[in-house]
Amino acid sequence: MVEPVKLEICVFPDLAKVSEAAAESIASMAHQTVSKKGRFTIALSGGETPRLLYQRFAAHYSEKMPWDTTHVFWGDERCLPVDHKDSNYNLAYQTFLSKVAIPPQNIHRIQAESENPEDAALSYERILREFLNTSEGDPRISFDLTLLGVGRDGHTASLFPAAPALEEKRAWVVAVDSPSSVKPPKRITLTYPVLNRSENIFFLVAGVQKTRIVRAVFQDLKQAEKIYPAAKVTALRKMIWYLDKSVMNDITNIS
Ligand code: 6PG
Repeated sequence: MVEPVKLEICVFPDLAKVSEAAAESIASMAHQTVSKKGRFTIALSGGETPRLLYQRFAAHYSEKMPWDTTHVFWGDERCLPVDHKDSNYNLAYQTFLSKVAIPPQNIHRIQAESENPEDAALSYERILREFLNTSEGDPRISFDLTLLGVGRDGHTASLFPAAPALEEKRAWVVAVDSPSSVKPPKRITLTYPVLNRSENIFFLVAGVQKTRIVRAVFQDLKQAEKIYPAAKVTALRKMIWYLDKSVMNDITNIS
């Protein structure tokens, strides 16, 4: 009997408080996971929302996280040079990975700067499958924790509305074309088959532009799943939505 996923909503006055709470939960989860399995795997999200959280890792968690047994992956990456200001890897590297004692071999980045994004997607999938196949514990689980954000159009990772990648049932990693309004034009993203096998998922969402998406997810999930990719994400055990107050404007009766 598969337990239904536990869904939690945590609302905070602002993104700084969201980031503080998420950092504390991640550190506690990391320690519990390391004591059970000997390592903790986390898939990071990109964009701007997680910046404060990542800065907090460097400022307050250099000793409070088990970095030596933490393995970092990414939920998606933009096809840009690795040191580009908009690279998701570069965001994490500049904010905390270059400042905490995480062994370089524990950083598993998507090599999206490759000339051939499709090959880069295949090679990241090989890295993921090899790492997870040689790991202890429940073979169903992909990551112990996946961090995700939500775009104004309801995308998450680089799973954009109406994209072919939403229908992917087998591949764990694919190269995608971004919508014309989104730069850069090419990205690499994990797909639902691997995202939805995360044991835990934390969504970090802030800003009134996201209210429409969050309201749809919590007030009419079936309808939201038809239009917003973020609505089709689930986890094996627990999904927590960390929201700042501005997202919750005029959203009521969330059950
Ligand atoms: C990316 C992210 C993406 C992000 C959303 C929200 O590569 O852009 O993985 O899914 O989480 O676009 O971005 P903001 O946090 O900047 O609003």
